[in-house]
Amino acid sequence: MFACDRRGFLKAAIGLPAGYGLATSLRGAEPARSAGLVEVDLEAQQTWMNVAGQNAYLFGFNGQVPGPIIEAHPGDHVRIRFRNSLPEMTNLHYHGLHVTPNGNGDNSFLEVGSGESLTYEFDLPMDHPGGTFWYHPHMHGSVARQVSRGLAGVFIVRGELDQIPEIADAPEAVLVLQDFDLTRGGLPVEPGLMERMAGREGDLVTVNGQVNPPIRIQRDGWIRLRILNASSSRFYRLRLEEHPLYLVAVDGGALPAPEEHEEILLTPGERIEVMVRGARPEGSYRLLSLPYSRGGMGMGMMGGMGGATSRTITLATVVYEGQAVRTWGLPQQLVGVDPLPASSVRRSFQFGQGMGMGMMGGGGMTFTINGRTFNPNRVDTRSALGSVEEWEFINPTMMDHPMHIHTNPFQVLGSDGSPIRAWKDVVLVRANSRSRVRTAFRDFTGKAMYHCHLLDHEDLGMMGVLEIQG
Ligand code: C2O
Ligand code: CU
Ligand code: CU
Repeated sequence: MFACDRRGFLKAAIGLPAGYGLATSLRGAEPARSAGLVEVDLEAQQTWMNVAGQNAYLFGFNGQVPGPIIEAHPGDHVRIRFRNSLPEMTNLHYHGLHVTPNGNGDNSFLEVGSGESLTYEFDLPMDHPGGTFWYHPHMHGSVARQVSRGLAGVFIVRGELDQIPEIADAPEAVLVLQDFDLTRGGLPVEPGLMERMAGREGDLVTVNGQVNPPIRIQRDGWIRLRILNASSSRFYRLRLEEHPLYLVAVDGGALPAPEEHEEILLTPGERIEVMVRGARPEGSYRLLSLPYSRGGMGMGMMGGMGGATSRTITLATVVYEGQAVRTWGLPQQLVGVDPLPASSVRRSFQFGQGMGMGMMGGGGMTFTINGRTFNPNRVDTRSALGSVEEWEFINPTMMDHPMHIHTNPFQVLGSDGSPIRAWKDVVLVRANSRSRVRTAFRDFTGKAMYHCHLLDHEDLGMMGVLEIQG
């Protein structure tokens, strides 16, 4: 039976941590379902594990890197029983989910002490977009360290794209991109201040905790890749040798139509879904990350400044195996979203770098938004429930900063000022440039955060508090 063959094929698609590389269910054949309960036990632990064939002393969820895939549907109630077995304080954030930021929901102000437990609980709205989301710690000051030691996992919300047969009938693989900096003995290396300012990068670049794993594809068949950049700072300029990438979804959901790309830049925190077709002669093709310069500190004598310019890396290898029993083309139309209306509420957020203005650790380097570093006890931006706003991010620095907003996704405004019809939650603001987004505060009140997703910058102060008021 086709379904069975496909299941068997999927199991082999990519080795590794529970769920990664496996399609978790067969779309299309699934009956309409009523709202359910998604219950997960997650334990953050410091433990020896095998990463890229070597022993590494990392932080993992349930002993694995990346953490287990959580999968839910719109309308589901999600309950995550979280236990912190790390030797330090931490917490969890559900990146990109449109859920309440209050109480035990996606509340990044919560703290879970070492040895303590906390149950996170929230409802996914019935109209929550389907997409690839993720979870990771958000403990201010420790985010870069905790995430770069491995704490990250994918949270899939099934949705409209999964109803489109040409997409749903393709096997699916999840690729989590993480980089680690380890000693020969497998201990994580803590970067110095200079590297933190540039944004730490590790030499060991992994996909689902492996170096260059195979991704199996059938000749004439399709595969759907969900790719998450869970690295602290590394940018991935993705290209698959001799294969165009058909982009079907970005951070928070599907595009209005597939877009063909030679390469796609994936900055920290971002996700994409791409379709790849086995349309070349049988063989092996490398999924590459090409060099990209994300800028430096602009401090003259320091020139390159840490790992800000990356080399070419082979992330994974697409290997042809077998022949598809049938083939098809992609549809002209996917999903997309209605463009948000223009708004007279406009705000601007100017980035900066400061020396010695930090309140933490007695001076040193800080990163600022509108001249200020993060203060959890201050509200920087107050927005009214029911409003639409336009936010402009102004980056006069010499480094790229990928900006992220919690709770409500946004639409990026194109160069002509009109919104791109897809939900994003990270927008790249390149060195010496600006980016504009439009967002709507439709349902949730409460406090949320916005910050640079170069996690060292977030830890060094580049974060603000938004309060949505009813
Ligand atoms: Cu992925 Cu506030 O973070
Ligand atoms: Cu987030
Ligand atoms: Cu930054």
